[in-house]
Amino acid sequence: MKHDKYTETNRQMWNQTAPVHANSYVDELLRQIGAPDYSTFDDVERQLFSQIGLSGKTVAQLACNNGRELISVKKAGAGRCVGFDISDDFVDQGRRLSDAAGVDVEFVRASVYDISSDFDASFDLITITVGVLGWMPNMDDFFGVISRLMVPGGDLFVYEMHPILDMFDADKGLQIEDSYFRQEPFYTEAEPDYMDPSNTVDAPSYWFHHKVSDILGACIRSGLQLTHFEEYAHDQSMVYRAFQDLEKKPPLSYSLIANKTK
Ligand SMILES: C[S@@+](CC[C@H](N)C(=O)[O-])C[C@H]1O[C@@H](n2cnc3c(N)ncnc32)[C@H](O)[C@@H]1O
Repeated sequence: MKHDKYTETNRQMWNQTAPVHANSYVDELLRQIGAPDYSTFDDVERQLFSQIGLSGKTVAQLACNNGRELISVKKAGAGRCVGFDISDDFVDQGRRLSDAAGVDVEFVRASVYDISSDFDASFDLITITVGVLGWMPNMDDFFGVISRLMVPGGDLFVYEMHPILDMFDADKGLQIEDSYFRQEPFYTEAEPDYMDPSNTVDAPSYWFHHKVSDILGACIRSGLQLTHFEEYAHDQSMVYRAFQDLEKKPPLSYSLIANKTK
């Protein structure tokens, strides 16, 4: 399978992460997610999703984790929703959460790079949110998959951590640790969980730095037309809270919309 030298290691790490999240917040989420007003959207998502329009659209979320964001998209009026994720255990969580929410959201366990051609030209909208691109070894192949999954006229929505953050260690502030032009992946043996830092996930993983120009270039080369790009001083991942109060802060996140014109 494509890029599985890295993605298979990451799959095992994510499977070890799933029970940590289950213990830290998923039980509570199972109780909350059925509420009619449950939503993970922040102001940026509310504004951009209303600009794109969700009503009745077929939507795929790539690397959807336990699907709580896709469930919010479904609740906001989308039509068929399919979440793809490489982790067996997060896909299971997604099915439990969508049952608890009382919505019909499909989950498929697959690496993005290996999504079946059965899904080609199936989606009006593809969404990708915080903490996804860094798990992807190659941007051109990634955007190639996105483009083949979209219907002509469809939109891609990305709301992500800014890649400049790969230059810093969140615990050390604005001290430059790595080159913005780094090409080799970051290899980590074990790391504190991002949702519950009191727990260490003891499994190796690979994280890939992609410059803004790698991301925009791959998007354009895949045939998508960029219609929106914005950078923000806020961090929706909560991983970089160390930078929130700095006056000279780096950009913490960005949003991108691109359209498949034909
Ligand atoms: C930090 S989560 C981000 C998802 C979502 N924004 C959220 O906050 O729940 C990253 C997800 O990417 C998934 N993932 C990593 N590599 C992948 C790949 N090659 N294909 C599909 N999913 C992948 C992981 O299993 C994990 O659920």
